[in-house]
Amino acid sequence: MSETADKTFYLETFGCQMNAHDSEKVVGTLVQQGYRQVPTVEEAGLVLYNTCSIRDKAEQKVFNRLSDYKKYKAQGKTFGVLGCVAQQEGEKIFERAPYVSLVCGSASYNKLPQMLVQLEGGAQRVTGLDDRLTDECFETEFTARTNPHRGYITIIEGCDKFCAYCVVPYTRGKERSRSSASVLGEARQLVDLGYTEIQLLGQNVNSFRDPEGKKTFAELLGTLAEIAGIRRVRFTTSHPRDFGRDIVDVIDAMPVLCNHVHLPVQSGSTRVLDAMQRLYTREEYLDRIGWIKGARRDISITSDLIVGFPGETEREFEETLSLMDVVGYDSVFTFKYSARPNTPALGMEDAIPDAEKARRLAVVNERQKAIGTARNQRHVGQVLEVMVEAKNAARGQWVGRTSQIKVMNFTVPAGVELAAGSYVQVRVTGSFPNSLAGELAS
Ligand code: SAH
Ligand code: SF4
Ligand code: F3S
Repeated sequence: MSETADKTFYLETFGCQMNAHDSEKVVGTLVQQGYRQVPTVEEAGLVLYNTCSIRDKAEQKVFNRLSDYKKYKAQGKTFGVLGCVAQQEGEKIFERAPYVSLVCGSASYNKLPQMLVQLEGGAQRVTGLDDRLTDECFETEFTARTNPHRGYITIIEGCDKFCAYCVVPYTRGKERSRSSASVLGEARQLVDLGYTEIQLLGQNVNSFRDPEGKKTFAELLGTLAEIAGIRRVRFTTSHPRDFGRDIVDVIDAMPVLCNHVHLPVQSGSTRVLDAMQRLYTREEYLDRIGWIKGARRDISITSDLIVGFPGETEREFEETLSLMDVVGYDSVFTFKYSARPNTPALGMEDAIPDAEKARRLAVVNERQKAIGTARNQRHVGQVLEVMVEAKNAARGQWVGRTSQIKVMNFTVPAGVELAAGSYVQVRVTGSFPNSLAGELAS
C-alpha cells in the first residue's frame, strides 16, 4: 500500500454490539490517521472486515466475503481482517486468504496506528494478536459514533468465564474493566454531544470491577443515572453468576435506568448448565429472576438460549421449555449449539444431530412466540414513553422503543412530524409477539 494523498478505507462489521462499537472506535482511529471512510469496496484502498466467530455460520460469512472480493487484490487494494475471527485464526488467515495483509484481534486495536504505518510502508503480513495478558482497554477520544441518539460505552472487555461452548475468552482476551472515572467522563462527553441514551457494553457488563476500586457496577449505574441530561441508561449483557440484588435495587430507585434486564440462561437444566460450565444452577438463576420480578417497576426480562448442547436429553430440553414458562420472557434469542474451535465442548461426546437441533429450535421459538404474545398483551391500554427512532414512510407510522426495549410502531395525527431522538407518550393499542402498536398520546 503506497502512501497517497487520499487514503480511503471501507469497513464492514459482523457480530455483536461490542463489535459494532469497536468499529466506531476503529473508524475514529483511522480518520485520525488521515484516512477517509468510503461506502463501497470499489472506492477503497484499504478494505477491512470486523469479524465474528461465535457460531460456525458467522465465521463462514467472513470467509465468503473475503473470497468474493479477492478479485480486487489485483487492483492494489489492501485487505485486513479484524475482530474475533482474526484473533481466533491468527496467521492461518494468511494461508487461507493470501491477499490479506493485516490480521488484528480486538485486544490489539490500541496498536492500529503503528500497524497502518507498517501497511503504508508495504508490509505484507502485519499482525496484532493477543496472548490474554493485556490489561489495556481500547479507549479513544476519536470514536466515530453512528447512532446520533444512543451512545455506546464499553465498560469491560474480554471474558474469563470460559463457558464450554464459547470462543469469546479466546477471541477477546482476558477480562479487564475501565475505571468508573473514565466511564463517567465519557458519559458526560456524550451528554455534551447531545446524547440522551447511554448503553453500557461488555460481554458480561455486570462483572465490571473498577480498577480504582471506587464503584461497584450498581453504584456506577446509580451515578450515571444522576448525570443531568441522561434520560435512559441501558446495559448488556448481564451474566447470571454476577447478577446481584443491588442491580435490581438501583433500577427500582432510579427511573433513568431502563426497566429491562438481559440475563442469558442458555439452558433450563442444571445438569446441562454444569456441563456448559455456566457457574449457576437452574434454581440460582430463578432466584435472580425472583429478585427482578419482586421489583416495584415492571422490568422486562430477555435471554439467550442454546439448544442441542452435546448430551442434552429430551427431558433436559423440556426443562428449558418449563423454565421459559416459569420466567415468562419478554423475548429470547435462540441458537442451535455450534461446535467451535478451541472450546472444551468441541471434544464432547453425544453430539445432537442437526435435524434434532433444528426441531428443538423450532419448538423453543414456537413456545416463545406464545409467551411473548401473552407478555406484550399486558401493555395494551397503557401509556408508555417511547424514544422515537424513525419514520416508516411505507406504513405511514413511526417507530421507537419503550424503556423495556420493546419496538413500538405508532400512528400520529395527520400533519404531525416527530424528531428522531425525541421522547413521546404513546398509548398502546395492540400487541404482537415481538412488538407493540400504538397511537401518539401527547
Ligand atoms: N457473555 C454473554 C453471551 C455472549 S455470546 C453471556 O454469557 O451470557 C451471545 C450468545 O451466543 C450466548 O449467550 C449464547 O447463547 C450464544 N452462543 C455462544 N456460543 C455459542 C455456540 N458455540 N453455539 C451456539 N450459540 C452460542
Ligand atoms: Fe462466552 Fe460464557 Fe464468556 Fe458469555 S460468559 S462470553 S457465553 S464464555
Ligand atoms: Fe461474535 Fe466476537 Fe461478538 S465472536 S458475538 S463478535 S464477541
